[in-house]
Order: sequence, then structure tokens, then C-alpha cells
Amino acid sequence: MFNRKRPVTVGVIGAGNISPIYLQADSKFSALRITQVADLDMGRAAALAKRFGKQAVTVEELLANPEIEIVVNLTPPEAHAAVAMQALEAGKHVYNEKPLAVEREDAQALLAMARMRGLRVGCAPDTFLGGGYQTCRALIDAGAIGRPVFAAARMLSSGPEHWHPNPHFFYKRGAGPLFDIGPYYLTALVALLGMASRAVAMARITHAERIITSQPCYGQRIPVEVPTLVIGTLEFGAGVLANLIVTFDAPAMYDAALTIYGTDGVLQCPDPNTFGGPVRLLRKGKKEWEDVPIAHRWVENARGIGVAEMAEAIRKGRPHRAGTELAYHVLDLMHALSEAANEGRCVNVSSTCDRPEPLPAEWDGSLS
Ligand SMILES: NC(=O)c1ccc[n+]([C@@H]2O[C@H](COP(=O)([O-])OP(=O)(O)OC[C@H]3O[C@@H](n4cnc5c(N)ncnc54)[C@H](O)[C@@H]3O)[C@@H](O)[C@H]2O)c1
Repeated sequence: MFNRKRPVTVGVIGAGNISPIYLQADSKFSALRITQVADLDMGRAAALAKRFGKQAVTVEELLANPEIEIVVNLTPPEAHAAVAMQALEAGKHVYNEKPLAVEREDAQALLAMARMRGLRVGCAPDTFLGGGYQTCRALIDAGAIGRPVFAAARMLSSGPEHWHPNPHFFYKRGAGPLFDIGPYYLTALVALLGMASRAVAMARITHAERIITSQPCYGQRIPVEVPTLVIGTLEFGAGVLANLIVTFDAPAMYDAALTIYGTDGVLQCPDPNTFGGPVRLLRKGKKEWEDVPIAHRWVENARGIGVAEMAEAIRKGRPHRAGTELAYHVLDLMHALSEAANEGRCVNVSSTCDRPEPLPAEWDGSLS
């Protein structure tokens, strides 16, 4: 008989830089059981599998394994759509790292295939499910800042060529600060404010090439194919305006901020690329900021929470939160900002999505 409490079996494709944190997800979330790891580079898959007590297999073997229910796709952006499509064709649910795909058409094809086969597509980021952003969500829903009026968000960094071992993909189509880091900010904004309907933007390639200072590619040059400075404005539901600055051009720094200004107060949200706080509130008429206690679980690095929540949703037959429409809408917003910048016009956004439901404060990552 089908057991609704049986952990969902997961196979991971892509054994690169981000994979170790995902390989630990089943030690935090009992809804998951990660059994196999695959990569085009079998040496990488073998090393990762050995480190975390999993089995290294080829992509084909993983997809042919009838036990695997969810494929977690941790390949670079340019491979997201093809690998996800292979997984869906093999009858697996799929959870992609961000962005959902590079092109809208590829993402639409994934969604159509998933719908046809009755399968789930989930997508990172899942940081909005962390304690920090769930606390922000509860404050907004409780009216702590009144009606949201505008938001300001920024991610200023000097670029991943200074820390990532294989940073070439960050300067290709499907990445750059907008498609690589933008998903954290846009997902957080949509999760708090609802969907957006219009975009304007300007964007620049500041340096034609980047010089790698991380190992093992130290000294190599990367030609830059995508803007490394994007400044945009989006109109969210009920006319809320949000300004977004994302760049890899800020020398020697990392600055991350997302602030929401309402009729009755200001909410300083945490770095959207993290799970915890701080959350700070300035109420109308007050001079002092309040540090708001985080009243939700999952404040440490909980990458994989979106997969676990999707696993529970599969078992219970309800929608998952790091969901298909949300991920597609965020991809659509990034393309809208790019088109607005390229064409010097205001771009209407046609995709829609609901705000994901808040995560219960005590959700423990199990199937209970
Ligand atoms: N590195 C980070 O800190 C970080 C953080 C959050 C999200 N991400 C996202 O995770 C994804 C992977 O990033 P990364 O930094 O781990 O990249 P990476 O380059 O370190 O690793 C990617 C791995 O995928 C493998 N691969 C490529 N194409 C494949 C295919 N078709 N089939 C099987 N394996 C394939 C490569 O051999 C490589 O081992 C990206 O979408 C990135 O945006 C990365």
C-alpha cells in the first residue's frame, strides 16, 4: 500500500560548488532521502558521493532508477532546461537551481511537459522559506508597516570570479547579476508583495572581460556577454514600486539590502540570499528601530528546504511553495528588465502568480 510517510527519494544531477549543502538536506529534512549523485564529470560525482555516503551514477542511470522520485538539478543555467526536460521525460518530478531556465520558451516547454505528465517543477531560491523572510511575511500580513508603498533592493558585489572555482558561466547568458542573484531579490519581493506587472531598466557591461583571481583558474580572462550592472524599477500589485540594483561591478565589497516602506512603517528585511535575520522595523512616529525576533524555524543555511517542502506537497497532494508559477514569473521579470534596458521602454509582464502561502512557523521538514 502507498505510504504517505515514506520519505521522497531524491537523485542529484550536478556535483559542483553548490552541491555539498544540498547533499546534506536529508539530514535536516526527514521528508527527503537522497540516494544518488550524477555529473557529466564522473570524478566529481564520485568524490561528492563518497563524501556524503551516496552512490555515484551516470545521468542515464539516475534517470532510469525507478526509486528516484525527484531530480534536483544543480547544473549551470545553460543546462537547466535540458536536464530538467530529461528528468520529466523519465517520469521524475524536478527541482531546478535558479534560474528555472535561460529562455522563457524553454521554461514554458518544461511547464507544459510537467502538466501533461502530472509532475511537479520546483525551483530555487528557497531562501524566502527561511525564518527571516517568513518573519517579514508575517509582519506585512499583520499590517506592521501599514500598506506597502515602495521597496528598495540592492546587491552590490565585486563578482564571483574572486571566489567561485569555475566562474565562467556567471558572465554568460542566463547569469550575470540579474539572472544569478536577481532571483533571490525578485522571489522575496513577489513572496512579500505579490506579482509584478511592469518593468523599466538600464543596464551596462562595465568591463569587457573579467580576470579570475580564485583557484584553480587564477589569471584566466572571461569575456563578458551580459550586463554586470542592472538598475531597474518594477511595479508590483496595488501600485507598489520597487527599485532593484544588482551588480558585479562594486570593487571589493558585498552589500545586500531589501527594505519595504509602508504607510505606517519601514521593514528592513534580511539579505535575500540567506535564511535568517536580522529583521528590523521602524514604526511611524518612532525614532528607534526595533530588532524583531525571528519566530520561525530554519535560520541557518537551509538550502534544500524548497525540495523538502515540495516532497511533503507531493505526498499530501497540495501545491508546493517554491513553485512553478512563481519561478516562471521571476524568470519573466528578469527578461522584462533585460528587454526594458535593451529597448529603452517600459515592458508589460504577462505572467501571473499568487503569493506562496506562508510556511507554518514550526514546520520541521518531516512528512508528519
Ligand atoms: N555556487 C554557488 O554558491 C551557488 C549558490 C546558489 C545557487 N547556485 C546555482 O547552482 C547551479 C550550479 O552552480 P555551481 O556553482 O554548483 O556550478 P559548478 O560549475 O560548480 O557545477 C556544475 C556541475 O554541473 C555539471 N554539469 C554541467 N552540465 C551537466 C549536464 N548536462 N549533466 C550533468 N552534469 C552537468 C558540471 O560538470 C559541474 O560539475 C547554478 O544554477 C547556480 O546558479 C550556485
